[in-house]
Amino acid sequence: MKKLVFLTGAGVSAESGVATFRDSGGLWENYDVMKVASIEGWNEDCDLVQRFYNDRRAQLANVEPNAAHRAIALLQADFDARVITQNVDDLHERAGSRDVLHLHGELTKACNEAKTDVIEIGYRAIAEGEKAADGSRLRPFIVWFGETVELMNDAAYITREADIFVIVGTSLQVYPAASLIYFTRGKTPIYAIDPNEIAFPFDRGEFIREKASRGMEILRERLKLLAD
Ligand code: OAD
Repeated sequence: MKKLVFLTGAGVSAESGVATFRDSGGLWENYDVMKVASIEGWNEDCDLVQRFYNDRRAQLANVEPNAAHRAIALLQADFDARVITQNVDDLHERAGSRDVLHLHGELTKACNEAKTDVIEIGYRAIAEGEKAADGSRLRPFIVWFGETVELMNDAAYITREADIFVIVGTSLQVYPAASLIYFTRGKTPIYAIDPNEIAFPFDRGEFIREKASRGMEILRERLKLLAD
């Protein structure tokens, strides 16, 4: 089977009712990114950061995967499909995708401050002052600005192997994730699905200017021609 690799961002979850970051009305319009999503912000006011992620987690418990998540999962039947996501939600998994690589962490997990001890917390809140087993503050298992993207090498390796690469719902503004497109092999077709223009060199693929669910319907038609 051909290797089909997705790189997804906040836009794939938009139709589930999860706000993106940089669209108008997006999260970074209402929150100061450096206060709630950076290691400096955590050191300055960890309660504010906990509240921000507790709210995201509570919201996640009340939303469902959408048609785009489901369409991505269904392609596992015809392709050796992998999902690399910048999203911290679990909607790809809940739609049935296996082995999802979360570049920026996962909301349903927490860890100690050294990030060596990761536990499942589901959709519950982390309490103020809650401690990890080693006595450090229990924190959301999220990759904040100023932290290493530990899974970047794995993601680059998976990308390198792709026969077809698809980007869904990411503005490609955050590095190193955005650099993944440069790890594709020279002739690998690259599709991008987004209702808005994004900074992407479309010389060997197609830009499908649609929301994720409609875009995935079009992509499935295109892929019929490419499946083995
Ligand atoms: P952005 O908010 O930067 O970009 C979302 C993209 O989704 C934009 O290109 C939108 O046009 C597109 N979009 C909006 N609605 C859509 C829909 N219905 N269907 C498809 N696409 C849609 O989000 P990301 O690129 O995911 O990191 O942001 C990357 C990282 O920046 C995040 O992982 C997060 C953030 O800061 C951290 O917090 C560490």
